[in-house]
Amino acid sequence: MGPRSTLILALLTLSGCQCGTVPFERCEEDEALPTVDAVVWHRHVRPIIEARCTRCHQEGGLAPFALTAFSDVKEHLAGIQHTVVARLMPPFMPARCCGKGYRDDPSLTPAQIATIARWVDDGAPEGDPADVGPALPLVGELPRVDETLIMSEPYLPDVDSHDDTRCFLLDWPFSQQKFVVGFGVTPGVREQVHHALVVLAPGYARDGFRDLDDDDDKAGWSCPGGLVLGIDDYVGGWSPGWEGAATPPGTGHQVDGDDVVILTVHYTRPHDGSAALPDQTSVDFMLADDVGSTLTAVPVINSAWVFGGLPIPKDNPSVLFDAELDPTDSNWGQPVEVVGVNLHMHERGSSGVLGIKRQDGSQECLVQIDAYDHAWQGDYVLQEPVTLQHGDHAYVECEFDNSLAHQRIVDGAPEEPRDLNWGEEQEMCVGYLTVKRPR
Ligand code: HEC
Repeated sequence: MGPRSTLILALLTLSGCQCGTVPFERCEEDEALPTVDAVVWHRHVRPIIEARCTRCHQEGGLAPFALTAFSDVKEHLAGIQHTVVARLMPPFMPARCCGKGYRDDPSLTPAQIATIARWVDDGAPEGDPADVGPALPLVGELPRVDETLIMSEPYLPDVDSHDDTRCFLLDWPFSQQKFVVGFGVTPGVREQVHHALVVLAPGYARDGFRDLDDDDDKAGWSCPGGLVLGIDDYVGGWSPGWEGAATPPGTGHQVDGDDVVILTVHYTRPHDGSAALPDQTSVDFMLADDVGSTLTAVPVINSAWVFGGLPIPKDNPSVLFDAELDPTDSNWGQPVEVVGVNLHMHERGSSGVLGIKRQDGSQECLVQIDAYDHAWQGDYVLQEPVTLQHGDHAYVECEFDNSLAHQRIVDGAPEEPRDLNWGEEQEMCVGYLTVKRPR
């Protein structure tokens, strides 16, 4: 059995416990903004907006308005100040008090936030157009593209009433084993593509996916919530604001010649309410013939949840589930090195945490999300990998708000709350650890 089969093995055999014995301590944000001297647009503010906002806030971009020209920015001063100070923009959910930070973190530093806030307070002075501050480095760039795969035919998203999540089979052109060492996505229609992810399934599952694909005349098949079960590996997730990223040095995702490569795209309605356009999104891969360690996603869940064990009563604003498991159990007791994390819930997910409970009783936070928004979930690559020894437990906690105020919006109104449980159209709670497996 190859290391990649451990994901399925883990799902089948590990049953996390409902170990409510020692609660996991969440951290509290307590970040003060520094005082800054007077600032002007061209010299100080423009480089921040151009590096951290305009990938989405551009003509035809995902955001509802452009922030590319000084005149655009002037129209939205109060909103910019509010969303930046409240850390709502750019969208990046992990709490800063948790862990040691993430690679490709697009969020603003306290000094950048203070700069924007002071500038708006001072009446947004323009400064000298000939004195533009130096460009800031962008986050999330793919160093090299070796292969680009595009959806085999365009798909017209069904976003009239609510969002549409669709899965597509991609034709993997290689018959020999390859390793994905970097990954990025180019949306066909930028303003419609909210996020996308790529997963691998074993070759024997291909016919099943083909049947799903053939169910209607349209490209792909509906897969609300994305694919979680029956997959072999999770190559990566993409959301607007970055173009792509390489895996940590010396690591990659193994793709065998007969593997099934599936692209999942979450489509939303264009902000101006205009009709959806046919989309043909493509995926860029950076490849290697060999790597030192493969990457595998290990789900941290309680397996009982999958079989009706995740009851979330309607109208309840706070339902909490937690689970923990020893990820070394699916690695023959050997230490497991974690390089990345991800927390997956659907629309009613309201907060969550993924961390480590060490054998000695100490706790480490890996990602904490205080205001979860399922539309902005992402992959968080740890600045510093962490290792779990046999006896250490990975811990996941999900909180759901199933009140009217936290439902999916359909046709401009929230859906009627209903009793929920585990399911594609219902809810999920999965913490993913991206772990390194030596070859
Ligand atoms: C990853 C894409 C993305 C990035 C990067 C981004 N935005 Fe946004 N922004 C959006 C979207 C999408 C919306 C529409 C509201 C929503 O869906 O949350 C939005 C809405 C806004 C709003 C209106 C909020 C409201 O409540 O009406 C402001 C103001 C804003 N963004 C400012 C910024 C600023 C300033 C930056 C950079 C510091 C930024 N955004 C970066 C995607 C982005």
